[in-house]
Amino acid sequence: MVKTDSILQLIGHTPMVRIQRLADPNGAELWAKVEYFNASGSVKDRIALRIIEEFERDGSLKPGGTVVEATSGNMGVGLAMVCAVRGYKSILVMFDKASDEKRRLAQAMGAEVIICPADVPADDPRSYYSVAKKIAEETPGAVLANQYHNPSNIQAHYDTTGPEIWEQTGGRIDAFVASIGTGGTITGAARYLKEKNPNIKVWAADPCGSILKAYKETGEITEGYLYLVEGIGEDMIPGALDIDMVDEIVSVSDKESFHTARQLARQEGIFGGGSTGTNMKVALDVAAAMHPDQVVVTIVPDTGERYLSKLYSDEWMRLKGMLSRELVTLRQLRQMKSQGLPNIVSAEPGLSVRGALDRMAQYNVSQLPVLDDHQNVGSLREGRLLALALEDSSALDRPVKEIMEEPFPTVEESTSVTHSVQLLLEHQGIVLSEDGEPVGFITRHDVINYTDAS
Ligand SMILES: Cc1ncc(COP(=O)(O)O)c(C=O)c1O
Repeated sequence: MVKTDSILQLIGHTPMVRIQRLADPNGAELWAKVEYFNASGSVKDRIALRIIEEFERDGSLKPGGTVVEATSGNMGVGLAMVCAVRGYKSILVMFDKASDEKRRLAQAMGAEVIICPADVPADDPRSYYSVAKKIAEETPGAVLANQYHNPSNIQAHYDTTGPEIWEQTGGRIDAFVASIGTGGTITGAARYLKEKNPNIKVWAADPCGSILKAYKETGEITEGYLYLVEGIGEDMIPGALDIDMVDEIVSVSDKESFHTARQLARQEGIFGGGSTGTNMKVALDVAAAMHPDQVVVTIVPDTGERYLSKLYSDEWMRLKGMLSRELVTLRQLRQMKSQGLPNIVSAEPGLSVRGALDRMAQYNVSQLPVLDDHQNVGSLREGRLLALALEDSSALDRPVKEIMEEPFPTVEESTSVTHSVQLLLEHQGIVLSEDGEPVGFITRHDVINYTDAS
């Protein structure tokens, strides 16, 4: 059993776990290096320690000094831990996308946290990079850890992650899959591994929205867009990335990342964060396309405990439209689409056809249930009303009860979306009821817009 003078000695030497159930049995062996076994729970501990030791060695960090960093979270937690042990102050600049859990963890270990917006470019003075730089310049005795450009980042992985993987596989490794945040993990580990065996193929798993795939393939810097996976993918090219170490980049959607992470937890008991899902999605596909005598290694950068209120929360996943239809009820679907709309847009039997068409235009809908004293008595379709009015303009003044069609079917709101699909194949829409009262209306479009993730 391990007995140690300092928690910092529990950084690195992380275990590798075979992926048994999720991996294709006819594909390559797949192994995950589980970095949440690092002292503060993520791969970043390796570089937090290395960067601080380097500052101590070159004299720029003195006792009582301050370490400043721009971080999406894990680096902050790692730095806060190392600073706590070594007696430094830590100031962390995070962006508002970072999970609450990571912010609180860093604060629990004594860090001061400053929050910045995620949706401004890196060179904007409000960006977390710019704010961190300014604080480091203006605070006496402060250093900027600068993980994005600090050579110690790559070096830490070259000296530890790479050799550990080589040793743990006994040199039997054919492919390495990792995502790119700063690029330190993939650059350092891949450099070491490729020096040992240039035939090892290195795959980067990159979130859809990141610019790195296009950069690798065309050399051009394009415009990215926001995504939900944390800690990886970029809107700029990080200095700690040597893109030549990467053979191929594969894009992964938020939905694929989160569902793969959830599957990994449920089927393998490995509880990683969102980027674990990104890595694992690519690693599973890469391994499936290889031979059983080959070996693929990927990284579990951090723990799912940091995302309990995000990808592991059904509520959050539902709000983001990423839960499978089976787990979503018609009530939840109604709540998701309800922004700014009344629960149920309907017509009363005495309303004129003109009034019904106006109401459709006002709410941008093309069908209405007709409700008579909370009873679902008929239905109206825009196309049919317009055809009637075209034929005979006096129809515009007739009450809808004279021309309405059969009512839409009524379904209890607690029914799952999956169980309502058959009805929607036969009808344009369905009226939702609760205790016999109509409370909402769902159309085929609403279900299609809720894209199924499973
Ligand atoms: C959750 C998470 N996964 C993966 C990474 C990628 O690591 P690296 O910065 O070494 O590229 C990071 C780093 O920012 C991270 O926070």
